Amino acid sequence: MENLITSNLENKYYIETFGCQMNVHESEKVAGILVSLGYEETKERAQAKIIVFNTCCIRDTAEKKIFGNIGELKILKRLDKSRIIVIFGCMTQQEGMAELVASKFPFVDIILGTSNVHLLADKIKELEERRARKRGKVIDIDTNERPAVIEDVVPYRTSYPNAWVNIMYGCNNFCSYCIVPYVRGRERSRNPELILEEINALLKAGYKEITLLGQNVDSYGSDRNDGVNFYTLLNKIAQIDTKFRLRFMTSHPKDLSEEVIKLIAETPNFCNNIHLPVQAGSNAVLKAMNRRYDRDRYFYLIDLIKKYMPDCGVTSDIMVGFPGETEEDFLDTLDLVKKVRYHNAFTFIYSPRKGTVAAKMEQIPYAIKSERIKRLIALQNQITLEISETYVGKIKEVLVEDAPKEGYLCGRTDCGRLVNFKGNKEMVGQFVNVKIEKNKASALIGEIVNEC
Ligand code: SAH
Ligand code: SF4
Ligand code: F3S
Repeated sequence: MENLITSNLENKYYIETFGCQMNVHESEKVAGILVSLGYEETKERAQAKIIVFNTCCIRDTAEKKIFGNIGELKILKRLDKSRIIVIFGCMTQQEGMAELVASKFPFVDIILGTSNVHLLADKIKELEERRARKRGKVIDIDTNERPAVIEDVVPYRTSYPNAWVNIMYGCNNFCSYCIVPYVRGRERSRNPELILEEINALLKAGYKEITLLGQNVDSYGSDRNDGVNFYTLLNKIAQIDTKFRLRFMTSHPKDLSEEVIKLIAETPNFCNNIHLPVQAGSNAVLKAMNRRYDRDRYFYLIDLIKKYMPDCGVTSDIMVGFPGETEEDFLDTLDLVKKVRYHNAFTFIYSPRKGTVAAKMEQIPYAIKSERIKRLIALQNQITLEISETYVGKIKEVLVEDAPKEGYLCGRTDCGRLVNFKGNKEMVGQFVNVKIEKNKASALIGEIVNEC
């Protein structure tokens, strides 16, 4: 067994990604660095010479899961000591965490933060030099709140026909529950010309969907002085004369503007799909969360979206059990969900994060949180089901995204609904018209009627 594993350790890497799309794309950048060093991807941890964990700390559950996963690597390291174990991402950026990981898991070799992972090739070299001198691991966490925006890493993309494109990094909002501003630093926007160059190159290379990434895309450009804001950036992207789909996340209800909503509605390439996390439906809770909008502002935006795009797929993130949330507050959330009728919502139990303002507030019992989330999920599932029913019998344009098994395909409608249908894998990356025949729990089932 040992020989089998060690003999296969030639230049293979394995990356496990936890957390959001931002992390998924950062893993593609790490893969790009490793490929440029001559490594090849493997899906088997045991086969990998380099094992990388890209971590998340948004909730306690995410962190616990990662700790469990790192623990499992001990045995692989024992089987082959030449293996290189790299831990990076949001979790390592928390105060004292890099040291904790290093002492709890002495077999970890390289620990990097969120903004210096582009140095990975140098760090691997440094580790090898250290190993020759038996000098242990490499830890490098950049605590600068405004680290430079790095442009020279070429991602090794794994999500064709979609391509992720960062437009900004970091967050300035400090929602009182959220760890992100502490682990990702302040907002830094990329140069608009470079964003456009990247999008044009991706479309030329055959990508069919571009998803712009930022913690709060609406504040794009506010840290630059070239006069380009999110609306003007979108306007430049709207001029691109090729058929593709544009999505972006995440929009913040305090900042999303009418001109952006109107532009989405008017631009054929821009998907009728807005992810607009509400977090809570009670004004008191929204205030305590430091979200800086209230129910009225949120409903105003929903009305605008529905005015310009009656079929828009609006999705949300919703949290229950924030400190001080009463039954009435929670009923306000249920009421909002009933009125907005989200196509889909990611629902979370509030999890206290050390160092955030809300972690110091009086917490509510877990039993209450868990009872509330069940009620919220039941309501949203019912709404999702009812919306799905309205699709049955209709023909929708779908971008074929994947072939999960021989003869079967899946893809999304413009407003983001998942559709499963039969077809061959050569069709991945094509737009097809699909007649929706059935509505199953989490996806629609259909049949291709003709290719677009
Ligand atoms: N920038 C985005 C999303 C950030 S994190 C935004 O502003 O919406 C993704 C989601 O995780 C958040 O929308 C929120 O619903 C959830 N989340 C963040 N911190 C959390 C915490 N401490 N406990 C539970 N859920 C949390
Ligand atoms: Fe977190 Fe709020 Fe920033 Fe989103 S906007 S990343 S929820 S602080
Ligand atoms: Fe994303 Fe988790 Fe970091 S949600 S920004 S990977 S804390």
